[in-house]
Amino acid sequence: MGRNYRIGIIKGDGIGPEVVDEAIKVLDALSANMGFNLEYEEMLMGGVAVDETGVPLPDETIQGVKRCDAVLFGAIGGPKWDNLERHLRPESGLLALRKSMGTFANLRPAMVYDELVNASTLKQKVVQGVDIMVVRELTGGLYFGEPRELGVDRAYNTMVYTREEVVRIAKVAFEIAMKRDKRVCSVDKANVLEVSQFWREIVIEVAEDYPEVELTHMYVDNATMQLIREPKQFDVILTGNIFGDILSDAASMLSGSIGLLPSASTGSKVGIYEPIHGSAPDIAGQGIANPLATISSASMMLRYALGEYEAADKIDAAIKKSLAMGYRTGDLGAYDAKEICSCTEIGDIIANYVCKSGKKK
Ligand code: IPM
Ligand code: MG
Repeated sequence: MGRNYRIGIIKGDGIGPEVVDEAIKVLDALSANMGFNLEYEEMLMGGVAVDETGVPLPDETIQGVKRCDAVLFGAIGGPKWDNLERHLRPESGLLALRKSMGTFANLRPAMVYDELVNASTLKQKVVQGVDIMVVRELTGGLYFGEPRELGVDRAYNTMVYTREEVVRIAKVAFEIAMKRDKRVCSVDKANVLEVSQFWREIVIEVAEDYPEVELTHMYVDNATMQLIREPKQFDVILTGNIFGDILSDAASMLSGSIGLLPSASTGSKVGIYEPIHGSAPDIAGQGIANPLATISSASMMLRYALGEYEAADKIDAAIKKSLAMGYRTGDLGAYDAKEICSCTEIGDIIANYVCKSGKKK
């Protein structure tokens, strides 16, 4: 009886294990209350995988994720592995995992919690109410373009997009916009790059199937500026792999801390849910990391991968409540904090709130 789900757990490096443990704590508290059952399968990826198996993405992990309903991932990388050959670097493991799973659609919400409007480096009136969804193409573009080469006198990468790749990511963005404010801004560099001109033409074609959605286009340099100048003008931002990488980091700072925001890499049978921050080796092991981005990623996983909407809502509400009560990790300590908490304390608080708000089913 009950709903059973198999969750792949990839803790990774640096603060990855600490923040994933807190998300699991919250998931366990929820499942106990809400009539579903989560079975975890831990897998290796990143620097820890290099240390244990010699490669950043072992075959067992590639096979293992296929057996799962979703993957919850922490973070990878650190100075220890920075000087390895490119194919052995932790980042190569993550890119290969995305590619092998086919998770081409990366959803990165950038929202500002009312409770934290003072935490942004921007003025309150600029950020209050910001609610943006960055839809980043994740398995093509400059990251994966061939040919690529590191020579002695010359090095190059190529930005390649196929029609199929642009169509499918554009559809994802329009579908999401239909459930939101029905506005898509496609970001490219069509004034300079052929690949962007191609991207733009295809996005315009796809838009014909979504007459209710307003489509605009922006060059990436202008979009970066607009994101800081007047972020509330955006609803859904649709963009390619490298531009999305940069724009989503910029967008994350509207919220005040990169430690707050989740992401989902979807588009295939199994999706990867992960905080948008990195492994933060400088603070790893100190118990001071902010687990909210990972806990929020677990919420996205419940919503998008498992269809456990009520449970996802409970996590979102619990995060808001913890912020409203003034519980903060150190990254947000200067903003209306009542109490500075450790990573595990925040996990305990959220787990406690999701239980209290849950009725036995
Ligand atoms: C991200 C990260 C990765 C990326 C790195 C770690 C390869 O910056 O998920 O945004 O560039 O995609
Ligand atoms: Mg990035």
